[in-house]
Amino acid sequence: MTFKDIFALDGRVAVVTGAGNGLGRAFARGLADFGAYVICADRDLAGAEETVAQIEAEGGSGAAIACDVSQTQSVDGLFGEVLRLKGGVDILINNAGISTGPRRLHELPVEDWDRLMGINLRGVFLCTKAVVPMMMEAGRGSIINISSIAGLGGFYPGLSRLCANYSAAKAGVIGLTKQAAMEYARDGLRINAIAPGWHGGTNLGNARRAAMTPEDTRRMEEAVNSRIPMGRRGKPEDLVGLVVYLASDASSYVTGQVIAHDGGWSAD
Ligand SMILES: NC(=O)c1ccc[n+]([C@@H]2O[C@H](COP(=O)([O-])OP(=O)(O)OC[C@H]3O[C@@H](n4cnc5c(N)ncnc54)[C@H](O)[C@@H]3O)[C@@H](O)[C@H]2O)c1
Repeated sequence: MTFKDIFALDGRVAVVTGAGNGLGRAFARGLADFGAYVICADRDLAGAEETVAQIEAEGGSGAAIACDVSQTQSVDGLFGEVLRLKGGVDILINNAGISTGPRRLHELPVEDWDRLMGINLRGVFLCTKAVVPMMMEAGRGSIINISSIAGLGGFYPGLSRLCANYSAAKAGVIGLTKQAAMEYARDGLRINAIAPGWHGGTNLGNARRAAMTPEDTRRMEEAVNSRIPMGRRGKPEDLVGLVVYLASDASSYVTGQVIAHDGGWSAD
């Protein structure tokens, strides 16, 4: 036996939620590069189609499907279509997520709490619930949940950027990951979480950025950048190696883990 194929994903079917932009697009392209057929699911169908076009231009294959992960019917529709198209799912990346405007907890509108929880936590539950029976039947599967360093600890350098709804949902994703990993370990399923730190080049912070003055933005950037031990923000592409590792046989004895990808932020 040699080890050179342990990252290979040939013949595997992956579903990436929120694949129409940002981190999800990089995950989808990376998985396809290693041989997976990638279903790019997003409520922004045009974005998902653009990701598939990039995958195909790079020699890979996949399909775009519209889905709102917060809606049961939409999620059932997605996985029904995947089952019809490919017969099952080997890899699920629960990546779709949003943030809301910058507010301290006492100013946070209840609607913002509910909307974010619906996507960032309920969506992870719904997609996982839909995919587990297929993976149990196959006797294998890897689920990767995208949490955040905000789920590991708080951060408030005198002004809001991370909000309690976001942090609570991301901590919830970690709890869901660990419990589900225990429940399905003997069924051949591995379920892990990634806690990314500050990664640029995505639309995640748009609502927050739009609500901040240029001076607040400058103060926030300074507070963030000076706290990252490696001295720089991550790029979506930086995460691809970790995602391929967790999706592939290279991590065959790893389940229930939360791996921070943060330039050292959480080690401080
Ligand atoms: N960028 C970072 O620094 C960072 C850090 C930690 C965690 N994360 C997490 O990574 C994930 C991806 O974030 P990003 O930075 O790429 O953001 P992004 O806004 O660039 O991309 C998110 C994608 O999710 C899609 N989406 C949003 N709501 C959806 C829904 N209800 N159903 C289906 N798709 C939906 C969007 O259309 C978009 O394509 C999120 O879960 C986010 O919380 C990002």
